[in-house]
Amino acid sequence: MPENTAPPAPKPDLVPGLAGIPAAESAISFIDGNQGLLAYRGHPIESLSEKSNFEETAWLLLYGKLPSRAELDSFSATLAEMRQLPERMIEILRALPGSGHPMDALQASMASFGMFSRHQNFRDTEYSDEAIMRILGAMPVLVAAFDRIRGGKDVIEPDPSLGTAANFLWMLTGHKPSELEARILDVALILHADHTMNASTFAARVVASTEADPYTVVSSAIGALTGPLHGGANERVLEQLREIGEADSVEAWVDGQVTAKRKIMGFGHRVYKVKDPRADILQSLANNLFESHGHTPIYDTAVNLEDEVVKRLGDKGIHPNVDFYSGIVYSKLSIPIDLFTPIFAIARTAGWLAHWREQMASNRIFRPTQIYSGEHEQRYVPIESR
Ligand code: CMC
Repeated sequence: MPENTAPPAPKPDLVPGLAGIPAAESAISFIDGNQGLLAYRGHPIESLSEKSNFEETAWLLLYGKLPSRAELDSFSATLAEMRQLPERMIEILRALPGSGHPMDALQASMASFGMFSRHQNFRDTEYSDEAIMRILGAMPVLVAAFDRIRGGKDVIEPDPSLGTAANFLWMLTGHKPSELEARILDVALILHADHTMNASTFAARVVASTEADPYTVVSSAIGALTGPLHGGANERVLEQLREIGEADSVEAWVDGQVTAKRKIMGFGHRVYKVKDPRADILQSLANNLFESHGHTPIYDTAVNLEDEVVKRLGDKGIHPNVDFYSGIVYSKLSIPIDLFTPIFAIARTAGWLAHWREQMASNRIFRPTQIYSGEHEQRYVPIESR
């Protein structure tokens, strides 16, 4: 080696999927995957799902503490006001193909929604708080309005006396939901509101780190949530349960999947090695709903599937995740399958925006490195000679 030449730096190891690599410091949510614990700002998910509502949980995630009565009332009232979208936003939804997936409509309309907003310094608290409420208020309206439009129905006016969950069901169906139905959806929104550094939240933070506006941050995160390995799994779970059919067909079906090394949707998690605590809560919500609305045989298939998969794959840490029971709950609420992931997005917007605020408070643009595995010093060959 010639004198004064430094030895080449050791190559960093590639960690596929960045598994176990911290991408940010965050005080928003916490998971203990071995014990099945999830907490938002230190509050266990079990206590929030029992005592809180989506608006209060969103505030907690965004601002770091439980709101006072006055703060919560004002936040909830402003969110309700923000459900009134510019008429041109509804026209944008009308222009989209009704045969397309509602997640694509949501991503496109959220990106367009930013064009109706004043773009100011995101460090200006007034702009940042206004953008948060505009986005959180608009998300359920965009989902419900797109569904009405594609079904050839009128878009229903929001009802400011209803909370986010009840108003969503009202705008979707044109019927005021029962207290139980509204509460169950409210709890499902709480359960999906944040979940540490998952793919869509990471996407949100990467886009936020470029100082893009929050509408772009949220529309990018919506895109990341669409995939079947992330938010898109909840749709696939219901399709899978329908494909299996009767509860006594489960064993043979699981056998086929395991032999063919095919993934079973609604199972497994990068962090949880035991049953996802959100799946437990959703399972008990499903039970409440069946007690009130009548039993559905698909639930027996689901319970058998959980037993069989855990029997076969539990020692690899494969247990039900949040998506396993959410689809059963939503379908019992008569929500179309392709709205399951948009509902996940409505809830997760609270988390994405909390991460946007946190990223902005201490920002450095994401610019990781790579391990180059291509050629070097190639000679350009004229096209006639190749
Ligand atoms: N069914 C069967 N085998 C599985 C499953 C599954 N659902 N999940 C993981 N495995 C196996 C996998 O085949 C691999 O086995 P082997 O070591 O023998 O090759 C091992 O477990 C590790 O799997 P992995 O895919 O490397 O794990 P990951 O941490 O990269 O992926 C996951 C996590 C959630 C993407 C994955 O478990 C999965 O694809 N699950 C099905 C889709 C799903 O339900 N997604 C919702 C996730 S929770 C909500 C959300 O975050 O959006």
